[in-house]
Amino acid sequence: MSTDRLIVFDTTMRDGEQSPGASMTRDEKLRIARLLEKMRVDVIEAGFPIASPGDFEAVRSVAEAIKDSTVCGLARASISDVDRAGEAIAPANSGRIHTFIATSPIHMEKKLRMAPDQVVEQAVAAVKRARRYTDDVEFSPEDAVRSETDFLVRILEAVIDAGARTINIPDTVGYAVPEQFGALIRELRERIPNADKAVFSVHCHNDLGMAVANSLAAVMNGARQVECTINGLGERAGNASLEEIVMAVRTRRDVFDCDTNLDTTQIVPCSRLVSNITGFPVQPNKAIVGANAFAHEAGIHQDGVLKSRETYEIMRAEDVGWSRNRLVLGKHSGRNAFKARLKELGYEFSHEEELNDAFSRFKDLADKKHEIFDEDLQALMTEANAQAGSDAVKLVALKVCSATGEVPTAHVTLALNGEEQSGQAEGDGPVDASFRAIESIVASGSQLQLYSVNAITSGTDSQGEVTTRLERDGRIVNGLGADTDIIIASAKSYVNALNKFYSDADRTHPQLGDV
Ligand code: KIV
Ligand code: ZN
Repeated sequence: MSTDRLIVFDTTMRDGEQSPGASMTRDEKLRIARLLEKMRVDVIEAGFPIASPGDFEAVRSVAEAIKDSTVCGLARASISDVDRAGEAIAPANSGRIHTFIATSPIHMEKKLRMAPDQVVEQAVAAVKRARRYTDDVEFSPEDAVRSETDFLVRILEAVIDAGARTINIPDTVGYAVPEQFGALIRELRERIPNADKAVFSVHCHNDLGMAVANSLAAVMNGARQVECTINGLGERAGNASLEEIVMAVRTRRDVFDCDTNLDTTQIVPCSRLVSNITGFPVQPNKAIVGANAFAHEAGIHQDGVLKSRETYEIMRAEDVGWSRNRLVLGKHSGRNAFKARLKELGYEFSHEEELNDAFSRFKDLADKKHEIFDEDLQALMTEANAQAGSDAVKLVALKVCSATGEVPTAHVTLALNGEEQSGQAEGDGPVDASFRAIESIVASGSQLQLYSVNAITSGTDSQGEVTTRLERDGRIVNGLGADTDIIIASAKSYVNALNKFYSDADRTHPQLGDV
């Protein structure tokens, strides 16, 4: 069987970012992009440049920094969108513009209010415009699965003639089922007269839980690019998960006649980085990157695995980057070892003071916790990055009393722009009391949308990593905090979220209302 190359197009920083609360700063995008490049992802969709000045800057910075992957910017099929995307990707070694317009009857009539002929005309004009900036132009007929196949054939032939070199078929609303979707890809490839001039790609949403299955059905029918995200992040129920697609084709080489170029050992570090940055935890039973993905609990399984790993394991944990909680550093580790390990995990320091600050946090942690794992370092860095430049509110002290049969109370001292203020409150539990005590001082008026605690490693000395999502006036932010004391971690995450409300200038806001 011959092995074609399957192109991996990562859209974590564009479609993934469109999940409520998952917006990323330019620096966060850069960090993710560097790790994606190290993983050898072929195309990185870094954002939607016209959506905001922040997103434009983010795409441009990624285009400047990334050398080995193609950097892509999204644009609606309009001249101004395409021009903005063209400017943003200009510094890239290899840059792509991805332009799209809806083609389903419902989207054309109700959303665009355009006749099919106008849609074709606009798509062709956008592709031609994009070709002024790069030869690498991708076109997507949005809501393709609910579009008429004859119309898809017509518009796709026209955009290929206009210069599109990748044709991406999105299942925008997650409506497809695998057999039907695979057949659609086959039919389009067979019926579009100039289909051989383009690579066929797919972009599946997970509303019915079939995004990965649909993508793989398309691959079996000739798609040679998959659009996907780390941890399946994305609008609503998310996109097809990168790690599941990549490992499916790698593990089942007997059924797929293609493979990716990915260094799969970077999958788990990438998953952690994205989870830490966005504050979206990974469910323990998530395939490939969930904490239990390689854990065997049942005695019969454990016995089998000890005798021969292949009895119950179809992949090797180390091939996807699980370090099996390898002890990496301890109290006596030096700065160089610390810096080198962080570099491997995708963290680099642009200033000496940043390294000094991170190293002193590491030493504090090593005093409390003797064994420091990769997960601890990642949490430490994520927390440090989340807090960088946002210290309008600082947690100075927290004391919580919680006893059987008594109402928990919390006493908190915060520094508000350097001025200390204290407050206290009762609550349903120690975390609730702490949050109320903080609110008694700041009166932010925000609503708690999500609170989640995750043990970073195993053992009772594990750090707890807390995500707190707050909403205020329609704006959603995620705060992060980590500590060996989970009440303190919770308070830190709440304070971190508040700081994002107060100083969030460069956070990108990707959604455009009328797309
Ligand atoms: O889901 C979708 O249709 C998209 C397009 C922009 C490709 O994200
Ligand atoms: Zn999408």
